[in-house]
Amino acid sequence: MKKPFTLHSGPITLRHLRLSDADSMATYANDRGIARNTAALPSPYRKSHATSWLKVLQREYRQKKADRLHLGIEIDGHIVGVIGIDLDGQRGTLGYWLGRPYWGQGIMTRVVRLLTAYAFRRYRLVRIDAHVFSFNIGSARVLEKAGFKREALLIKHFNKRGRLIDELIYVKFRR
Ligand SMILES: CC(C)(COP(=O)(O)OP(=O)(O)OC[C@H]1O[C@@H](n2cnc3c(N)ncnc32)[C@H](O)[C@@H]1OP(=O)(O)O)[C@@H](O)C(=O)NCCC(=O)NCCS
Repeated sequence: MKKPFTLHSGPITLRHLRLSDADSMATYANDRGIARNTAALPSPYRKSHATSWLKVLQREYRQKKADRLHLGIEIDGHIVGVIGIDLDGQRGTLGYWLGRPYWGQGIMTRVVRLLTAYAFRRYRLVRIDAHVFSFNIGSARVLEKAGFKREALLIKHFNKRGRLIDELIYVKFRR
């Protein structure tokens, strides 16, 4: 049998998400601090949201869909966050969230380093970027620690339910 896809860094495993991760996702993603800082996560975030999204992902994994890779962040045997990269030619765009009990321990910095190193190799990308709301100091710091540089500030760029938010663009190029 084919070995399931995984990436490892210390106690952290990145792996394909399963339908059985819905409970864990609903526990950690149902957080206003996550909804406020992300583009599209519903709030409140219910198990039904997780289940519908996980069903879409199962299909994509099976079809080996090549335009994005979304992975669960597993610690102590359960999913505590998600990181994904959307692919567009030789460019990738990162998005991520982590459950609040795990914040401030350097976890996302490790995860971003791990996935970007893999994606540069696997997809032969030239650049990986991330769009961060200008008030999200923690996420900007994660990217800086993971070797990204601030490329631009786009004023009133992201339309979130009718509210225009300033966005920072961070980028890392293949070495
Ligand atoms: C942003 C997020 C992913 C960070 O994950 P994390 O594992 O806590 O990040 P790390 O521990 O690797 O690093 C966080 C850094 O930001 C700093 N930080 C966090 N909040 C901060 C704040 N309000 N002001 C200043 N620094 C802050 C931490 O001190 C740390 O930097 P340091 O190591 O120099 O002290 C997590 O808080 C999260 O999921 N937030 C909600 C969703 C989100 O913002 N997603 C990203 C959308 S672009």
